[in-house]
Amino acid sequence: MNDVAPILEARGLVKSYGHVLALRGADLELYPQEILAIIGDNGAGKSTLIKALSGAIQPDEGEILLDSEPVHFRTPRDARRAGIETVYQDLAVAPSLDIASNIFLGREVRRTDPLGRVFRMLDKRTMRREAARHFAELKIGVQSITQPVEDLSGGQRQGVAVARAATWAQRVVIMDEPTAALGVKETRQVLDLISRVRERGLPVILISHDMPNVFELADRIQIMRLGRRVAVVTPQTHTMSQAVAIMTGAEAA
Ligand SMILES: Nc1ncnc2c1ncn2[C@@H]1O[C@H](COP(=O)(O)OP(=O)(O)OP(=O)(O)O)[C@@H](O)[C@H]1O
Ligand SMILES: [Mg+2]
Repeated sequence: MNDVAPILEARGLVKSYGHVLALRGADLELYPQEILAIIGDNGAGKSTLIKALSGAIQPDEGEILLDSEPVHFRTPRDARRAGIETVYQDLAVAPSLDIASNIFLGREVRRTDPLGRVFRMLDKRTMRREAARHFAELKIGVQSITQPVEDLSGGQRQGVAVARAATWAQRVVIMDEPTAALGVKETRQVLDLISRVRERGLPVILISHDMPNVFELADRIQIMRLGRRVAVVTPQTHTMSQAVAIMTGAEAA
């Protein structure tokens, strides 16, 4: 890995919420085409770290580099424009809209007249066709792309959120607990989807508490504790119980 530059990098990120120091100098490197898992106890700073990388919060100190260039994301939109798509822990789908509309949320395709002038009216046909194509490409099974998201199971909804990120991401996909609260079968589907995102050439940051899934899927595992990265391990070098011991502080990194 040493001769390859990271795509995304965080150096010494500090973030406090009032008296709570959520990040105390956190680092991260994400390399091309890898799945980097982030593990750590509740409150270790995992979500805060990825929120800084996705523009949802601004760190008090430290720097973020994309392709070795410093970047300053003031909003999630800034990060999305730079090609970084994020599925947040509290996921944001619009339940009353159909699948296609959710995929195109904030990026709606509008109709044009024969002179190419843009109407306010949405081009639903194009959005449905495109959404269906992305779902087929990612092998996500849904009955119909026009189904309202509120009629879907938890796993299918999660699939929509992950598919949206995978559809638009140009550089990086970030997922915060994408399989929390999912059944076994639904979890399997989302994990397969994450593998396919990597196969398509995109690196993934995956936050998860599910150690067997992390050890199955991740190329590298970043362990966070009390707002810092304390170790990076791999499924080849460490066992699950060793990783958990480092995570809880029972064993030195
Ligand atoms: N918006 C906020 N306001 C105040 N404190 C916050 C806020 N967000 C996070 N914190 C605090 O910052 C610390 C780190 O939180 P963070 O959500 O990053 O942890 P986490 O590792 O994602 O935990 P979990 O595994 O429970 O999701 C915690 O002590 C948390 O209470
Ligand atoms: Mg979290």
